[in-house]
Amino acid sequence: MPSTDLDWWRDAVFYQVYIRSFADGNGDGVGDLAGIRARLPHLIDLGVDALWITPFYPSPMADHGYDVADPRDVEPTFGDLAAFDALLADAHAAGLRVTVDLVPNHTSHAHEWFEAALAAAPGSPERARYLFRDGRGSDGAEPPNNWPSVFGGPAWTRVPDGQWYLHLFAPEQPDLDFTHPEVLADLEETMRFWLDRGVDGFRIDVAHGMAKPSGLPDMLPMEDTGLLADHGPGDHRFDDDGVHEVHRRIRRVLDEYPGRMAVGEVWVSDDDRLAQYLRPDELQLAFNFKLLTAEWDAEDLRTAIEHSLATVEGTPAPACWVLSNHDRPRHVTRYGDGIVGTRRARAAALLQLALPGVAYVYNGDELGLPDVDLPDEALQDPIWERSGRTERGRDACRIPVPWSGDEPSYGFSSRRDTWLPMPEGWDRLTVAAQADDDASMLSLYRRALELRRTSSALRGDGLEWLPAPAGCLAFRRSGGLVCLVNLSADDVPLPEGELLLASTDVSDGVLPVDAAVWLRA
Ligand code: GLC
Repeated sequence: MPSTDLDWWRDAVFYQVYIRSFADGNGDGVGDLAGIRARLPHLIDLGVDALWITPFYPSPMADHGYDVADPRDVEPTFGDLAAFDALLADAHAAGLRVTVDLVPNHTSHAHEWFEAALAAAPGSPERARYLFRDGRGSDGAEPPNNWPSVFGGPAWTRVPDGQWYLHLFAPEQPDLDFTHPEVLADLEETMRFWLDRGVDGFRIDVAHGMAKPSGLPDMLPMEDTGLLADHGPGDHRFDDDGVHEVHRRIRRVLDEYPGRMAVGEVWVSDDDRLAQYLRPDELQLAFNFKLLTAEWDAEDLRTAIEHSLATVEGTPAPACWVLSNHDRPRHVTRYGDGIVGTRRARAAALLQLALPGVAYVYNGDELGLPDVDLPDEALQDPIWERSGRTERGRDACRIPVPWSGDEPSYGFSSRRDTWLPMPEGWDRLTVAAQADDDASMLSLYRRALELRRTSSALRGDGLEWLPAPAGCLAFRRSGGLVCLVNLSADDVPLPEGELLLASTDVSDGVLPVDAAVWLRA
C-alpha cells in the first residue's frame, strides 16, 4: 500500500489515463483496464504518484464513457470488476494511488432511470429525477428555455408525448435533477461502492454543473456557449450557488474515508467564485485551467499563475496545475507544433512541475505527443455532428499512446486499426524510442519528477517572483528552487546557482529562447 500520509495529494503528480487511448490489453483496438495494469511499470519509471482513470463504466459511448449507464459496474470493452480490483491491487502494491471519474451531472439515456422516465407519463415520479418540462409557444413546440448544449444545438430534446428534457451535453446525456433526494443518495452510494473497493479518490466531472436555478430562466444570449469555457454569471447553466450543497454532501462521504480526496472539474474563471468550491467542507482540489488556456507569452502565463495562486490563498487547498487534458488541444500543438511546439512544451513542463501544489499530466504529455488532424470519416466526438460538422471536436488530442515499434499501432494494441487511427511517423515518439535517449521528452519528465520527489529545493508552498529579463519569467520556491523560463526572442544569461535541470543545453551559460531551467539558489 502507498504511504499512509493523509495529505498525500497536496503536492502529488497525477497522471490522467484516458482509458480508450492508453493501452489495449485485449486486442480490440480500444484501451482497457488490463492494458493499464500491464503498463504500470511505465508509470512507476515515470515517477508519478497517482492515476486518474477516465470513465470505464457501462456506457453506449455517445460521449466515450461520459454517458454512464451504470456507475457501479465496468463496461465490458474495458474489462470487469475483477480486472479493476486486480489493477488497483497492483497499483497500490507499487505505491501508486488510483482515482476514478465520478460523473454526477448526467446519466446516459440508457440508464435504467432514464428508460423508466421515458416509459412513464409527464408529471410521474420517474420523470422527476431528470429535468422534464413542457415547451413554450403554441403546442409547446419551442424548448422550455434558450439554453444551448455545449456540444451544439439546443440543450433540450422533445419526447413523443410532447415534453422536453434538459441535456447540457449530448441528448444521450440527460441532466439529473439534484433537488431530488434519490439523485444525491445514489451518488453517495456510487462513491461508497468505489471507496469500499479501495480507490483513493475521485475526479468530479462538470463539478460546477449539477445544481440549476429554480424556474430554469433564460440565460444571457452569448456568442460562444461552447464546450468547457466559463461564460460568467449570465450563463445559468453552470455555477449555480446550489452546487455547493452537493459538494458538502460529497465531502461528508469522503470524510468517512480518511486519506481519500476529490478534485473538481470546475470551469469557473473568477478567482473568488472558484475559491468557493475549495471551502473546508467542499472539494480538496479544483483544476485550475488558466495554464491550459494561456498563450505562450510571459505576461499571459504570469497572470495565469498569479490568479491560480490568488484563488487558493485563503482556502485550505493547494493550487492544481493542468497543461493538457482530453478536452483541449495538446500543448505541443497549442504552442506551435513541430520543433518549436516541442521546445516550448519542454519548457512548459518544467514550469508546470516547478509550481507549488498539484500537477496533472495527461497521458502522452511525457512523450511530447502533438494533436493529430484526422480525416472527417475518422471523427468520433459528438461535437462534430452536433455542430453541423463545423467543429471538429476533441479527437485530435485523444489519439492512442505509442509504446514501441515502427508503425501503427506502435504496441498500443495487437491490431493495427485502433478506435482513432494512429499516424505514420510516431516511431520516434514511442516510449521505447525515448526511454534511453537522454535528450527525449520522456527523460526530461522522469528527471523532473525524480527531483520533485527527492530535492528539498522543490518543497514549500511559497512562491516569490524574481526580477527577470524582458519576456522572461523567474520565480523562487520557498524550498530554494529558482525556475527561469525564456519566452523572449533572445538568449538570456543563466542566473547564479547550482544547475538542477534544463529543458535544453545550457552549458555555455545562456538560456536559449523557448527554454526553461531549474537552479538551486
Ligand atoms: C467533462 C469531460 C468531457 C465530457 C463532459 C461531459 O467536461 O471532461 O470529456 O464530454 O464532461 O460529461
